[in-house]
Amino acid sequence: MSNTLRLNSSSNKLETIEFYFNDKKLNGYKGEPIAASLLANGIKTIRTCEITGENRGIFCGIGHCYECRAEVDGIPNVRTCLTPARQGAKVFSQASGIKGDMEDES
Ligand code: FES
Repeated sequence: MSNTLRLNSSSNKLETIEFYFNDKKLNGYKGEPIAASLLANGIKTIRTCEITGENRGIFCGIGHCYECRAEVDGIPNVRTCLTPARQGAKVFSQASGIKGDMEDES
């Protein structure tokens, strides 16, 4: 975990947690958005575009663009920029968009 990517790297009062991204154990701070924890761990790609396959990650950082979607503890399409990291959370990349979107267009 890199503190050089954090806005306030001098804070030692935050509780460190462990969580998983695609089965890889990472460290973060309790309550920090998952996307921020991923970025601090050097991970910029959170999912891939369901149409082009291009890498996607944090874009707006405020919950508007949905580019940071991931599966969190079995729940798909969670916006990781809004979701606090929790001890033991299991986060997985998504290679597809919101389930059911494409199926209804036939
Ligand atoms: S980065 Fe835009 S919704 Fe999360």
